[in-house]
This record gives sequence, structure tokens and C-alpha cells, in this order.
Amino acid sequence: PPSGPIGIDPLRSVAKEMKFMTGNIRQLLGSGHPMLDKVSKYYTQSEGKYIRPMLVLLMSQATATMPKRSRMYSRGAEEVDRPITSPSVLADANPASPLTAQSVDNGEFADSVLPSQRRLAEITELIHTASLLHDDVIDTSTSRRGNASANIEFGNKMAVLAGDFLLGRASVALARLRDPEVTELLATVIANLVEGEFMQLKNTVLDERHPVFTDETISYYLQKTYLKSASLISKSCRAAALLGDHSIEVVEAAYQYGKNLGLAFQLVDDMLDYTVSGQELGKPAGADLELGLATAPLLFAWKNNGELGTLVGRKFGEQGDVQMAREMVIRSDGIEQTRALAQEYVDTAVRAISGFPDSEAKIGLIDMCSKVLSRRK
Ligand code: FPP
Ligand code: MG
Ligand code: MG
Repeated sequence: PPSGPIGIDPLRSVAKEMKFMTGNIRQLLGSGHPMLDKVSKYYTQSEGKYIRPMLVLLMSQATATMPKRSRMYSRGAEEVDRPITSPSVLADANPASPLTAQSVDNGEFADSVLPSQRRLAEITELIHTASLLHDDVIDTSTSRRGNASANIEFGNKMAVLAGDFLLGRASVALARLRDPEVTELLATVIANLVEGEFMQLKNTVLDERHPVFTDETISYYLQKTYLKSASLISKSCRAAALLGDHSIEVVEAAYQYGKNLGLAFQLVDDMLDYTVSGQELGKPAGADLELGLATAPLLFAWKNNGELGTLVGRKFGEQGDVQMAREMVIRSDGIEQTRALAQEYVDTAVRAISGFPDSEAKIGLIDMCSKVLSRRK
């Protein structure tokens, strides 16, 4: 339920922006190759949660009235919206297919979000969706958002290539913002996603023969979590403030909000893997243990129960390991500790933006924090 003044849904302030999001993203993904076009747009058919673009839009609105500084680069709407064209060889091969991402359909906006900030919101979703396409290959997933995952529907090769295509188009759109600092931030995000995924794949702390729980265990997990999940959210919040030409204090506050919310978001994600059914999640539950992954609930359980180390060391790979680990986690306070840590991060996120002027969008940002904690999928 909205926490704003009675009858006002704080997310309503960006609702009209969101309405055009899917269409704009699909336009950015137009390819003259019909199959590539189809695979690339596959995850845009099922409605995602659009958390990242929503945060960018809310951050843009919440900071709109705050003091500006003058920056070197100008980004007019014409610059941002210039059509993105596919190679002409494809144009010749498929004359019927539209090859350009048409000018962004912004509808009639009376509000304060800049064209560059709106495009940034779309870019964050492109990068996120690219990472999901690759992630589902790596995780050999079977479903996503209640449908067959792209790797199942189209095979690994096309899923990987479609992810690469999304990153390519995201990069073009990013370059069009003509803002080197913002480009650098989002390029770093792409590198961070890979670094986080690598930390998860080759767990240098936990892959020891006789793993013991140390101080490093949680900090390694949190570092991985930042790279895998919070980097995109935090750096895109930061980029939104940069595009709005705000002071370094505002830019830093936006970043801290995103970083802490992003960490909380992934902690909750790791918790839901233990507490919610696959039906509700729209993707298989209990997947992390099956993949050999020790996430926060298990790490906290391990802290008080050294026995789990043996299972962690062999990545829950032997008969009955997954079931045994699951039961140990559920009997422990690992889930509760995970929730408590997520709550701490959310509180820090709210504090980070406490100096922002009161607005519907600020309430929206605060509301996103409680939504992250209470979500079931
Ligand atoms: C979902 O996590 C995956 C991510 C948040 C990032 C995955 C990153 C890569 C695959 C590296 C490649 C990156 C790019 C930019 C193409 P999850 O598997 O825990 O969540 P899930 O349950 O939704 O699958
Ligand atoms: Mg996955
Ligand atoms: Mg994964």
C-alpha cells in the first residue's frame, strides 16, 4: 500500500513514463534480422518488474528541483532520440523490416524528467535484460517470468548472441547521451556484472577443500552481491543525478541510495529462494543450492553450524546434500538474519536521501525500499 498522503500512489508520478518504457525498449532492439529481432525482444514480452528504470525515473524526479551546477556537455532531445540504424547490408536483405529504432515516443509529458534521463532508464533495463539472457544460459534455467526462459525457447547460442546484441544497442544509446562520465559508469556496470558472476562461479573463499567460516566469508559474498546486483542500481542512480547536472553531494546521495537498496534487493532475492514457491516466483525456487551456491541465508546458518562447511565445500553436489542444507538453513536463524541485514541496508538507503526536498517522487523512492523488503517475487 502506498505510504504517501491518502489516495496518492507515489509510484503514480512515474506511471506515465513507464507506460512508454516497453515500446521504447523494443524500438531500441529493432533488428533487420527477423530471428535476432524476435529473440532480443523475447524478455520484453513478459512484463518485468522494471525496478531499475523506475528507480532512475524516481531519482530524476526527486532531484529535479535541486540546485544544478553547470557541466560541459549538453544533451538535447534531438541528440538522444536520433534513430539507431542497423547495418545497411541487413537493410538490403530485409527491406520490409524496420531497421531503425524510431524516435522515442515520449507521449505528452509535463513533468521534469529529461530525455537523457528517460533514455538512461531504458538503458538500465537493456543491460539488466542482457544479463538475464546470459544468466539463464549459465544457470541452465528453464523458466523466467512465468514463461520458458530464452535458452530453452531458442537455445544457448541465440540466447547468448541476443544478450550481446542488447549490450551493443545499450552502448549505442549510451554513447548518444554524449556524457563521458555517464558512459564510464554504465560501462563499468557491464564489467562489474561479469566480475560478480565470476566471483560466484569461482568462489575462491569457499572452494577450499576444508572450508571454514571466517570474517571474509560474508564480505566476499557482499562484494559479489554489490558487483552482481547493486552496481547497476547504484551507478544508474548516480548517472541519473549526473544527467540532471546536480552537485556532487546529490550525486553521492543518489549513489548511496542505489547501493544500499541494491544490496537489500539481492539479499531479499537470496532469501526468497528459500521461502517462496517456484509458482509464486515465476522461476524455479531453491535454485541456488541446486547450482551449488551458498547465499546469505546459508552463510549465516553456517556461521553457527560448522557442519555446513562440508556441504559448501562440495557445492551440495552429493546425493541428499541439497535437501540436508535446505533443512539446516530453515532450522537456523539464517533467513531471519538475512532479512535483518536487508532491513539495515534499506534504512541506510532511506537516510541517504533524507536531505532531498519533499516530493511525490521522494516518497516513491522510500516506498521502493519497503516494497523491496515485502516483495514475494
Ligand atoms: C541474475 O542472478 C543475474 C545477474 C544479476 C547478473 C548475471 C551476470 C552475468 C550473467 C554476466 C554477464 C553480464 C552481462 C552484462 C551480459 P540470479 O541467477 O541469482 O537470479 P535469477 O534467479 O533471476 O536467475
Ligand atoms: Mg539465474
Ligand atoms: Mg545466476
